[in-house]
Amino acid sequence: MSTTGKHLRPIDDSTVVLAIETSCDETAASLVMGGVDVLSSVVSSQIDLHAQYGGVVPEIAGRAHLDLLNPVVARAIVESGVDETRIDAVAATHGPGLIGALLVGVSAAKSLALTWDVPYIGVNHLEAHLYAGLLEKPDLEMPLVVLLVSGGHTMLIEMRNHGEYRLLGRTIDDAAGEAFDKVARFLDLGYPGGPAVDAIAREGDPNAIDFPRAMRNEGLDFSFSGLKTSVINFVRKNPAVRTADVAASFQAAVVDVLVHKTRRAAEQVGAKGVVLGGGVAANSLLRDRFAAMCADDGRACLVPSRAMCTDNAAMIGAAAWYRLRSDGATSLDTGAFPNLRLPLIEGSW
Ligand code: KG4
Ligand code: ZN
Repeated sequence: MSTTGKHLRPIDDSTVVLAIETSCDETAASLVMGGVDVLSSVVSSQIDLHAQYGGVVPEIAGRAHLDLLNPVVARAIVESGVDETRIDAVAATHGPGLIGALLVGVSAAKSLALTWDVPYIGVNHLEAHLYAGLLEKPDLEMPLVVLLVSGGHTMLIEMRNHGEYRLLGRTIDDAAGEAFDKVARFLDLGYPGGPAVDAIAREGDPNAIDFPRAMRNEGLDFSFSGLKTSVINFVRKNPAVRTADVAASFQAAVVDVLVHKTRRAAEQVGAKGVVLGGGVAANSLLRDRFAAMCADDGRACLVPSRAMCTDNAAMIGAAAWYRLRSDGATSLDTGAFPNLRLPLIEGSW
């Protein structure tokens, strides 16, 4: 196995990680010290490049990462105020994600690790989303229940300790973010769909249409594809309905199920706290309802800042620090993994 940085000094609160994120349509770099102290975080979004196609075009994403990554990394280093000789390790998301996009970040991180002779750390993007919240409240007591809701995933995870995850529930069809994006496309609200639905829903009545709450009282798995179909069928039958009312009622149905199941999961495992994560965690109603649930239940709660919910490299730097401490450097022979899953101590998917 070949790794760089064989003479790494002990991993501690002063260990500085340069982290790179290129798994989808954000090119991001960040310097994080000790797994919690964000020295800089630069995110360059490609949304404008993909908007005209109504979704992320993998080929365009890969090329854009190539153009953007060097200036983004350079800016992250300058903004951190830290000299590059202080960087102790270089991390990159190595999955899951678009293969062409992932490879840009992984190759850059390995090159920098070789150049500086410091360890390279390949990071699981899903694990990083779990750490995004902890960056803002690192002292939360475990076990935690994390609701991870993004464009590709909807999962309830019990975090028993660092690196120890148990899958409690997941979607059996569409991810929550995917449902937002598909409904937004059907309603002609543009791309990306989640923020568009969130915005127009503010002018609508969430009780206007009683959309189904699939599997609300059955276990901890989710299903959103029937809801999406219900929205489509309803609008086709009622073309005069206000789009804002449809968006608000759809959003209310998604959020109701997400919050209800998170509460049940937290009760089941006796969680000390609940954490929200992933791109859909930027949703206004979900954030409000999640916080209200915690207040009602008297449970510690973490609703991260919006910037920490959507893709960024600070969360990669946080997860990398814990992985470096527990597993050491990643071999330079390790590639990128488009379908990488969260490592679980129990449960399967
Ligand atoms: O975590 P993320 O940035 O990328 C993935 O790893 O998937 O999540 C992107 C997803 C998209 O489906 C987007 O529509 C959704 O998060 N999203 C939102 C909001 N902001 C982003 N969904 C609902 N409301 C929002 N405000
Ligand atoms: Zn993500």
